[in-house]
Amino acid sequence: MPFPTVRMRRLRRTESIRRMVRETRLSPDDLILPLFICPGEGVQNDIASMPGVAQMSIDVAAEACKKTADVGVPAVILFGIPPNKDAMGTGAYADDGIIQRAIPALKEAAPDLCVITDVCLCEYTDHGHCGVIHNGDVHNDETLELLAKESVSHARAGADMIAPSDMMDGRVAAIRKSLDAEGFSQTPIMAYAAKYNSAFYGPFREAAESAPQFGDRRSYQMDPANGDEALREVALDLQEGADIVMVKPALSYLDLIYRVKERFGVPLAAYNVSGEYSLIKAAGEKGWVDESRLRDEVLLSIKRAGADMIITYFAADVARTLR
Ligand code: PBG
Repeated sequence: MPFPTVRMRRLRRTESIRRMVRETRLSPDDLILPLFICPGEGVQNDIASMPGVAQMSIDVAAEACKKTADVGVPAVILFGIPPNKDAMGTGAYADDGIIQRAIPALKEAAPDLCVITDVCLCEYTDHGHCGVIHNGDVHNDETLELLAKESVSHARAGADMIAPSDMMDGRVAAIRKSLDAEGFSQTPIMAYAAKYNSAFYGPFREAAESAPQFGDRRSYQMDPANGDEALREVALDLQEGADIVMVKPALSYLDLIYRVKERFGVPLAAYNVSGEYSLIKAAGEKGWVDESRLRDEVLLSIKRAGADMIITYFAADVARTLR
């Protein structure tokens, strides 16, 4: 029954009707805020390439956590900037490491906030790669041991969820096994399952001081040309015990968000990464786009594609507008 019987515009006529037929809604519950934790006290180092985002010392981050919880965001994900870096990334699994010290302080400031920790070595190694280097490349199996150690030390410090972002093969199984052996069988793993080798990470590497000092991450992160491979990555991570899987970045990979959700029907996170954030901020500052409308449209599209959770630097700002 085509036009003129059918008129699609009838249901777009007023805001109340539009509200009634709206299919997707953003809620603070969908959002996870990334935080960059650095040494010191009272430190807030603004990140030039990410307006509105800063490296924060633990005390400043604790305040940010309170505010984040107050606007209804359920979770933060932590990235650590250690005082020193070395070849083995020992700061990642030190008992008194930056993240290990941050977790109890943040939990005290915001007891109900879910504290997720990013598990990777790139912020902690002097070469900036996500694992141990052998003959100019990251050695997979030796890296697994360190990632497992890092995960256990985060859990011991009180992390509510562990999120490995390194893209080593077998890391979810290695982490699950170690967590279980150390009494953390209830700590969930959010696996960065399909993480692409992306130019959209540029600003993050300034924020986390984690740019590789030689080469690139192509031998472990995925080729942006591949979609089927992402489904294999997700299937493997689920087999290994991932509780939540992630597609990262989000915007250029909405097809994968959709396919993963359709195929597996499991809790799915999408990472609206630094470059996606900075593009919107930069264009907004220039007055070329309406920043908040663009932000809302982008986040909504990620959710509409199938993401249950969105990790985004906009989390606190957007949650405030949703109250
Ligand atoms: C660490 C890690 C990266 C991001 C999250 N975890 C960077 C990378 O792989 O180089 C990127 C996040 C962002 O760009 O916002 N492995």
